[in-house]
Amino acid sequence: MKKIGIVTSGGDAPGMNAAIRAAVRLAAWSDIKVIGFERGWEGVIRNNFRELDSRSVSGILHLGGTILRTSRCLEFKTREGLERAARSLAEDDLDGLLVIGGDGSIRGAHELSKLTDTRIIALPASIDNDVYGTDETIGFDTAVNTALSEINKIRDTAVSHERTFIVEVMGRRRGFLAVEVGLTAGAEIILVPEVEYDEDKVLKTLKDNAAKGKRSSIIVIAEGVGKTRSLAEAIERKVGVEVRVSILGYVQRGGSPTARSRFLASVFADKAIALLLEGKGDAVVGIQRGEVASISLEEACRNQKQLNLEVLRLAEKLAI
Ligand code: F6P
Repeated sequence: MKKIGIVTSGGDAPGMNAAIRAAVRLAAWSDIKVIGFERGWEGVIRNNFRELDSRSVSGILHLGGTILRTSRCLEFKTREGLERAARSLAEDDLDGLLVIGGDGSIRGAHELSKLTDTRIIALPASIDNDVYGTDETIGFDTAVNTALSEINKIRDTAVSHERTFIVEVMGRRRGFLAVEVGLTAGAEIILVPEVEYDEDKVLKTLKDNAAKGKRSSIIVIAEGVGKTRSLAEAIERKVGVEVRVSILGYVQRGGSPTARSRFLASVFADKAIALLLEGKGDAVVGIQRGEVASISLEEACRNQKQLNLEVLRLAEKLAI
């Protein structure tokens, strides 16, 4: 094990820099050289990289985003793009490649792993927390706390004006962020892509709440539900309360990573380097019931992480 590469891919997540820092410094303990590819898979395809050492990663632990930058690389979805990426790994004589990213990046890593002898290990990093094989991804806790902080502020004005707020959080396909934010924010209603949208149920809940004396409500909806604006209109028309919409957007992707996101970044990097030193590859590291573990890229791609609907029911019970 003489040289490894690092790439950050897909949507950025707070804690990616903590993972880069940990991987580079742990590699240094074993005299392993590290190169960092620029701009995600695009950098691997174009073999555009910079050398990283312990000094290169000073002062980044607390920074959101990724010093290597990232991209959503359509070329990497083509056979030619994958082959060019594999050639870069061979040209650079890389023994290993650490891929720091979410579900889509892990699927790309799995495809690349079929075309290269470079051993690939993925570190799950995404604010969506939608990676199979880990209870939690790097960046998820930070995004939850960012969204929670924003909703605390929204609740002040909701109460003052006796309004219903629909707060849209990120999650293009999955509702993990919406559920955790909704529960911890005390949302009256949480809407996720995994549960069939039932407008009548939402309207009935709001009417019942009004009858119980609730003068304001918070609805947390994952962007993947795709009903934010239409629901706002339906509530105003059929429930007769003032509604305002707040789309949190990209603030959820930035900010200084929380202690938890930094912790996951560090222990995931430690596991990844350890696997490489053991001569292993084709893995996604993660945390399962408090223990750091790993599964194969294939297993991670073959399965879909299930949303815990019990937590959704708990949130509903707590919001009476
Ligand atoms: O990284 C995941 C995510 O933040 C999703 O929650 C969101 O829908 C998507 O990325 C946005 O993608 P982009 O940054 O390409 O606009």
